[in-house]
Amino acid sequence: PETISIAIDGPAAAGKSTVAKKVAHELTYIYVDTGAMYRALTFKAIKDKVDLSSEEEVHKVLMNCDIQFEQSKDGQLVYVNEEEVTKDIRTQEVTNHVSAVSSYPSVRKEMVNRQQKMIHGRNVVMDGRDIGTKVIPDADLKIFMVASVEERARRRHEENVRSGYPSDIEELKEDIKRRDDIDSNRQASPLVKAKDGVEIDTTDMSIEDVVKVIMDLAKEKG
Ligand code: C5P
Repeated sequence: PETISIAIDGPAAAGKSTVAKKVAHELTYIYVDTGAMYRALTFKAIKDKVDLSSEEEVHKVLMNCDIQFEQSKDGQLVYVNEEEVTKDIRTQEVTNHVSAVSSYPSVRKEMVNRQQKMIHGRNVVMDGRDIGTKVIPDADLKIFMVASVEERARRRHEENVRSGYPSDIEELKEDIKRRDDIDSNRQASPLVKAKDGVEIDTTDMSIEDVVKVIMDLAKEKG
C-alpha cells in the first residue's frame, strides 16, 4: 500500500516540531525531527574536540556516529552511539554551531540518505529545512511554516522561562536571525519553500489553529 508523508519546513523556532508532533499523533504517523540529527552530530563533534571548521573531520565523526530515536512516555529520546543525549543537543553551545555543521554538503548527503532509509515504507510527519525539497520531494503535503522573528523569540523565551532556563529575548532574536541567515544562504540545499509548498504564517495563530489547518489540508489530500 501507498505510504503518506507530510513535510514541514521553515526557519528556526517557528514551532515546527510542536505542530509536527501533534499532527503525527492525531494521524498515528511516525514523527522524525531531522534538526535533532544535525544537533546530535554537532554535540558529538564538540565532545570529540574535532575542528568544526573542517568538513572532512566533521564528516568522519558522522560516519562513526549512530543516531537513533526512541519513543518513551516523556516523548522522543535521542541516542548517539547508545548514549542518551536528548537534553545535551539543546544547549546553547550546540545551537551556536549546528548551522555551520549543517552547511557541509558531505554531511547533508549522508543525513538525507539516513532520513530516507528511516522513513521507507512508513507514514510520516518529518520536520526540518530541506524535507519538501530534498528528503521527500514527492511528499503528499508540504508545509512551509513562518513567523516573525519577534514572535519566534518571544515563544522560545516563554518556553525557556517555563523550563527554568536562563533566557534573554534580545539574545534569542540575534541567534534566530543568525541561524536563518546561514540556513537560507548556504550552497547545499538552503532553506527555501518548495514550489508546491503551502506557506502558513503562524505569527498570530495558536498551536491548535496551525494543527487544524494542517489536518484539514491532510484530509483534502487523503
Ligand atoms: O530544527 P532545529 O532548529 O533543531 O535545527 C537545528 C539546525 O539544524 C538548523 O538551524 C539547521 O542549521 C539544521 N538543519 C538542517 N536541515 C534540516 C534540519 C535542521 O540544516 N533538515
